[in-house]
Amino acid sequence: MAQSSEAFRHFCEEAFGNDFSQDGFSDTTQVDRILQYIPTDRQARILDIGCGNGKMLGYLQKKTGAHIYGFDYSQNAIDTARATFKTDSDFKQACIGEIDYPAGTFDVIVSMDTMYFAPDMAAFTDHIMKWLKKGGTFFTCYQEGDVVPKTENADTSQLAQILRHKSIHYDCTDITRESYDLLLRKKKAAISLKYEFEQEGNGDWCDMLIAQTEYADKPFEEYRKELARYVYVVRKNK
Ligand SMILES: C[S@@+](CC[C@H](N)C(=O)[O-])C[C@H]1O[C@@H](n2cnc3c(N)ncnc32)[C@H](O)[C@@H]1O
Repeated sequence: MAQSSEAFRHFCEEAFGNDFSQDGFSDTTQVDRILQYIPTDRQARILDIGCGNGKMLGYLQKKTGAHIYGFDYSQNAIDTARATFKTDSDFKQACIGEIDYPAGTFDVIVSMDTMYFAPDMAAFTDHIMKWLKKGGTFFTCYQEGDVVPKTENADTSQLAQILRHKSIHYDCTDITRESYDLLLRKKKAAISLKYEFEQEGNGDWCDMLIAQTEYADKPFEEYRKELARYVYVVRKNK
């Protein structure tokens, strides 16, 4: 549907700043944070875990000239990615926990709202660290309060606990406020595009997009008690 709906393309552009066919919270401000970690003095290699149709990777490639790699369990999304990006790219249909890459392959590994789908997050973290080159960066946007429960703070999330247990240093930025503001933009965009969605026969889809923003019906101070969003950045030193 994301391939054929102009209304959804407009929704993504209005809410997220760019159309990456987002199914989550990855707006352009968050994605632009990745750029500083991608080397541009050579062709870097970037992996996106749960890459969907690869549009976010395409954006990063355009900005940096990187070779892009992605995997996702959706065959349809991977077929679209392969048809869209024909050079300097490698897309695989695969599940987290089942796919492997040679050690030291990637300069940057990105996971936007996908770590929670790992059947064993600790084991998957080991894979990620193995796949990274020395000096490489693991960048993840991580939400608490919907797919996984909200914990006390950024250091108590399941991912933070796993990293600390493995003595892996991480930097964390709390972007809960940004994420709340994004929800408000999503709601506004979906409501203003409702007629366009309906004209395409996608009115139900628009209703679902609006329903997904119901968290933002409460003031921020209430919202932050139930939801949180963090950016974790890990540099591989050895
Ligand atoms: C919440 S969406 C996030 C998509 C995208 N990264 C973004 O930020 O918009 C999760 C993505 O991970 C994929 N996915 C979910 N579970 C997976 C799994 N076990 N293995 C591989 N991909 C998975 C979904 O198909 C989807 O594209």
